[in-house]
Amino acid sequence: MKIRYADLIDQTFDFPTEEFSMKNNLLEFHGIPLMDLIQRYGTPLKFTFLPKISNNIKKARKWFEKAIHINKYNNKYTYCYCTKSSHFSFILEEVLKNNISIETSYAYDIDIVKNLYQKGKTNKNIEVICNGYKTLNYIKKISELINNGFSNTIPILDNDDELEKLSLFINYPFKLGIRIASEEEPKFEFYTSRLGICYKDIIVFYLNKIKNNPKVELRMLHFFINTGIKDTAYYWNELFKCLHIYAKLKKIAPELDILNIGGGFPIKTSMSFTYDYEYITNEIVYQIKKFCQKENVSEPHIYTEFGAYTVGESGGVLYKILCQKRQNDREKWNMIDSSFMTTLPDTWAISRRFIMMAINRWNDSYERVFLGGLTCDSDDYYNSEQHMNAIYLPCFRKKTPLYIGFFNTGAYQDTISGYGGVHHCLIPQPIHILINYDNKNKLVYKIFRHSQSPEEVLKILGY
Ligand SMILES: Cc1ncc(COP(=O)(O)O)c(C=O)c1O
Repeated sequence: MKIRYADLIDQTFDFPTEEFSMKNNLLEFHGIPLMDLIQRYGTPLKFTFLPKISNNIKKARKWFEKAIHINKYNNKYTYCYCTKSSHFSFILEEVLKNNISIETSYAYDIDIVKNLYQKGKTNKNIEVICNGYKTLNYIKKISELINNGFSNTIPILDNDDELEKLSLFINYPFKLGIRIASEEEPKFEFYTSRLGICYKDIIVFYLNKIKNNPKVELRMLHFFINTGIKDTAYYWNELFKCLHIYAKLKKIAPELDILNIGGGFPIKTSMSFTYDYEYITNEIVYQIKKFCQKENVSEPHIYTEFGAYTVGESGGVLYKILCQKRQNDREKWNMIDSSFMTTLPDTWAISRRFIMMAINRWNDSYERVFLGGLTCDSDDYYNSEQHMNAIYLPCFRKKTPLYIGFFNTGAYQDTISGYGGVHHCLIPQPIHILINYDNKNKLVYKIFRHSQSPEEVLKILGY
């Protein structure tokens, strides 16, 4: 009896899911007929499904608002978008529809804020949390923003020198935040994050440099855990350390009223992903409240800066399997028509896993394969190291092309790979399609950029 790829998926996962379904034996993602997309625009193809972004923001807000209500938490929640996860104009325009704040990491982010303001996509009341190490250029741009009336801009000190420089360039009293340097996870190479100010130095710094400084008001304490928000002893321990500083500071700095717990909500990187967002949100709110009650200080306004969670699940990349190479009797290499290094650099750099499935030929029998990229680099592959299990795909057949999709790839991949730049072996940037609903709830496609031409690549290289 032939065992079909469809049976394999059925036996291995709960299928269909909220985002994946089957129509006429072809895979759909949020109702997007992926094979139609391929027939229209070809492969390799990147897409962004914009409605998923607002959808995720609304869900997170609901979890926090519910937790605030259940725990009778005496303060509010603010959703902040961390721009570094995707800086594209279409992403910023989508997130801004949701009345969010934004978090910046570098000087050029401030140019994005100015651009959005000039286009009428935002106004001077927008809250801009300026994180990251502040080069002089970044300091000047933040100062210019505040001097021009963006009074809800909050620079977060990454080190104590930044305060002096900001005070020099900003003409008015301004709000300030301090980033706590968290302790790294025990298995990490380093003990303490290089980002932020050490726990032990914060109170002294406040007393010496901020308390009697009429120009600044300390409003926010910020911390970010590199591993993300997980229900682990390490996470709760770091949160409590941060709460200790908050309570200590709050007693001498009553104006401090915001705790920013950074980003780190995970996204689905495999079909068997489980994460109880509602539980963890409730636990965070409950623990903060309990701690503040014990310390007899008022509960802070909670901010998050979700990057991957905001944009990750909106993106996907589709490839064609060009051929199958068999180098011995066990290894079958399915060659994609692009490069993992170019389009999904995290698969190569940090062995990140993404959801991967065949788009067509679900009725065919399957085989175990490795996926190879087009560059000559032996590391340009995707394998079971990244994928939770071995990779199974419908059997390769020369005459009936096989297409595959990688999903939830919308965060970080474009900036890390240098979108539109020159890539390893000059593998070009694929075509990029934006997908949205029109006012009749019908899917509409728009080309954001065409596949990179040889002329574009040669121009970058100075030819
Ligand atoms: C300060 C800060 N906030 C937020 C984020 C976003 O994290 P994530 O994409 O995991 O939500 C990052 C990511 O590096 C960060 O450094």
